Amino acid sequence: MHDIMSRLEEKRGAARLGGGKRRIETQHSKGKLTARERIELLLDPDSFEEWDMFVEHRSSDFGMAEQKVPGDGVVTGYGTVNGKLVFVFSQDFTVFGGSLSEAHAEKICKIMDQAMNVGAPVIGLNDSGGARIQEGVASLAGYADVFQRNVMASGVVPQISLIMGPCAGGAVYSPAMTDFIFMVKDSSYMFVTGPDVVKTVTHETVTQEELGGAITHTTRSGVADMAFENDVEALIELRRFIDFLPPSNRAPGAPRTASDPRDRVEASLDTLIPANPNKPYDMKELIEKVVDDGDFFEIQPAYAANILIGFARMEGATVGIVANQPMVLAGCLDIDSARKGARFVRFCDCFNIPIVTLVDVPGFLPGTAQEYGAIIKHGAKLLFAFAEATVPKVTLITRKAYGGAYDVMSSKHLRGDVNFAWPSAEIAVMGPKGAVEIIFRGDIGDAGKIEARTEEYREKFANPFVAASRGFIDDVIQPSSTRRRLCRALAMLRGKQQQNPWKKHDNIPL
Ligand code: HXC
Repeated sequence: MHDIMSRLEEKRGAARLGGGKRRIETQHSKGKLTARERIELLLDPDSFEEWDMFVEHRSSDFGMAEQKVPGDGVVTGYGTVNGKLVFVFSQDFTVFGGSLSEAHAEKICKIMDQAMNVGAPVIGLNDSGGARIQEGVASLAGYADVFQRNVMASGVVPQISLIMGPCAGGAVYSPAMTDFIFMVKDSSYMFVTGPDVVKTVTHETVTQEELGGAITHTTRSGVADMAFENDVEALIELRRFIDFLPPSNRAPGAPRTASDPRDRVEASLDTLIPANPNKPYDMKELIEKVVDDGDFFEIQPAYAANILIGFARMEGATVGIVANQPMVLAGCLDIDSARKGARFVRFCDCFNIPIVTLVDVPGFLPGTAQEYGAIIKHGAKLLFAFAEATVPKVTLITRKAYGGAYDVMSSKHLRGDVNFAWPSAEIAVMGPKGAVEIIFRGDIGDAGKIEARTEEYREKFANPFVAASRGFIDDVIQPSSTRRRLCRALAMLRGKQQQNPWKKHDNIPL
């Protein structure tokens, strides 16, 4: 017994040491934590239950039979984040560069299967040189097994990827199929083909950071949702983020005890909208003044900033916020913002998170770049996502809601449950100036006439009352009372049940 106990301790010790002291030092010297240190920071103290610590690879080519490290380059198991169950895998770069072997993949698949069975999020901490080169196709098969599970788990349990080192080649496609991707600045990168291949094929000279670093993917490509300064910040923010999510599509997230009163009046909102309709204001100010304790977890803040998306709480329960941002491109919808908004709306709908939509949108962004880039199909994604969503949908129009963009932004016509407008709302086919220039083209030379017509149009259409008279707006509300009205609407909708017709799946314009 004594022997077996000491062998157990020896094996555990070897697994904990991973690739050894030298490689751990190298990892630290790059400003990176080890796989186990990351798990310790992510999970609640003493909550981690490790699985498969003794799994080893089964390959013997290229001298691999002599090189075995218990755990085989990935630490897997489950634990809690603020008391909520999560499954986690954390790739260990100190063991064969965190590369994915057949056995390594089996460990990841095992926790994904169990997460699906019990209904809990899967968090992947990625730090890997990709497919284990010594294993060849067995390792590619392992990746495909993970991919298949990513797809099966999509919409069943939240999946979050934190990229904390290399992630290249086909390996990028597992994170790509998860719900959210977070990256660490300067130490992580994602690309399908690296700088050397790029140089050979296209003769472009580009660094790893430029091609696929955290800044690139959170500002240019939109592949990643957030960029953090270092491992510690990323893991702390990930803990905060998980707190907003429900465990699965079958269980609602437990609401927090809320201390922020439902009927908190925010007098400053009565003057948020500038007198000049062309002057911007910060929609984020409205969000922060309305949600519980001003706590808004914004996603993709540096990408397509003309739309704001993120999570907040109303009376302790998570809501997804989608809002036009008049500070950027006047809040117009374009390709990037439509894709950004659509994916978020679909996440909320998968996981039964009510959606609050704040509207100030002058329309779709004009231009050849947009049309050639297929704004028709991309804009349709956002429309499709709102229209198919069956979660509670509460909409507030603060100012402009023009043209097709009015329809798209969770209007009554797309099964918006409660649609409010502020008195400053302008709901029409287009703005007064553009409208008059079209319908009174003959008067264009006569400035006085045009002005009178514009005033007439503004009086008639640039307000919320025409829409309200048709019942498209349920009520025109005082801005300072917005929190109370939204909270009441969301509380009323808690028992909402709505089904779409049976289908194998829909065919969203991709
Ligand atoms: C086996 C690997 C490995 C791999 C790294 N290592 N990548 N072992 N398979 N894919 C090992 C190294 O031999 C080394 O072992 C240790 O990990 C650290 O690697 P270094 O090169 O010293 O580290 P660094 O300088 O930081 O460079 C990291 C790296 C580089 C950029 C990731 O290692 C690299 O280019 N690796 C190969 C990447 C690659 O081509 N992978 C296959 C991609 S194709 P020692 O013993 O010295 O510590 C792919 C297909 C997926 O992934 C398909 C899905 C469909």
